[in-house]
Amino acid sequence: MPDQQPTLRSYEIDCSPIGEVPPADDAPVYRGRYDFTPGKDWFSANVPLWRSVLAEWRDLPALRYLEIGSSEGRSMVWMFENILTHPSARAVSIDPFYHWPGYLEKDGETLEYFQANMRNAGVESRVQAIRGHSQVELRRLPLDQPFQLIYVDGNHRATGVLEDLVLAWRLLEPRGLLIADDYEWKPEWELSERPRMAIDFFAHVFAEELEVVHRGYQVLLRKASAETLANLPMP
Ligand SMILES: C[S@@+](CC[C@H](N)C(=O)[O-])C[C@H]1O[C@@H](n2cnc3c(N)ncnc32)[C@H](O)[C@@H]1O
Repeated sequence: MPDQQPTLRSYEIDCSPIGEVPPADDAPVYRGRYDFTPGKDWFSANVPLWRSVLAEWRDLPALRYLEIGSSEGRSMVWMFENILTHPSARAVSIDPFYHWPGYLEKDGETLEYFQANMRNAGVESRVQAIRGHSQVELRRLPLDQPFQLIYVDGNHRATGVLEDLVLAWRLLEPRGLLIADDYEWKPEWELSERPRMAIDFFAHVFAEELEVVHRGYQVLLRKASAETLANLPMP
């Protein structure tokens, strides 16, 4: 028996780019003032794409957004300022809110910064922050309270991303949109240590239930209509 597992270096699935990213502009990302750590911005680069693809959901009553991986709340605040603008819109965040010395270069709990930013945005009562791991917490969310929009940006290993995609998919409404982050992250790393393979395999295996509407640094998956889903063989 060899000591080490063979390393997977490539696989055969069409993963060519789909869709364009609109050009960035100089508009400020946020209207309000928030306490975000400057060197920990994993979000702002996505704004041109999100502004364009999420426009159809803007200000919809009772819109529900699920976010896996929120950290200090950059993506969550942007969603409330721009898309979850109807007072009846709600969000759920799942994150262990990891904090270790030096992580955010400031003291205190990441969850406290997240909550303070939600307060500053005036949306504290509209966000449920679940402190925990998505692999556990997603299984506790009720399937009869689905979401129209889901963002997967938590654990970045292929195992973690695949489990998030499968569990979150069941919570996504027909015609809902799932955004998977970091498809092109760290190409020099082993496939097992980054999201790409999990996103490709998920999109491939679930192809009859979805359309890949964008594939670039992020991948956007649109769930099929209720009618299409109802005509598939029973799970
Ligand atoms: C890149 S950050 C998220 C950035 C955030 N979306 C933003 O806009 O700033 C990744 C987050 O995923 C969280 N995370 C790591 N493992 C997780 C897991 N198993 N379940 C949920 N969240 C996880 C980390 O605590 C961290 O806050």
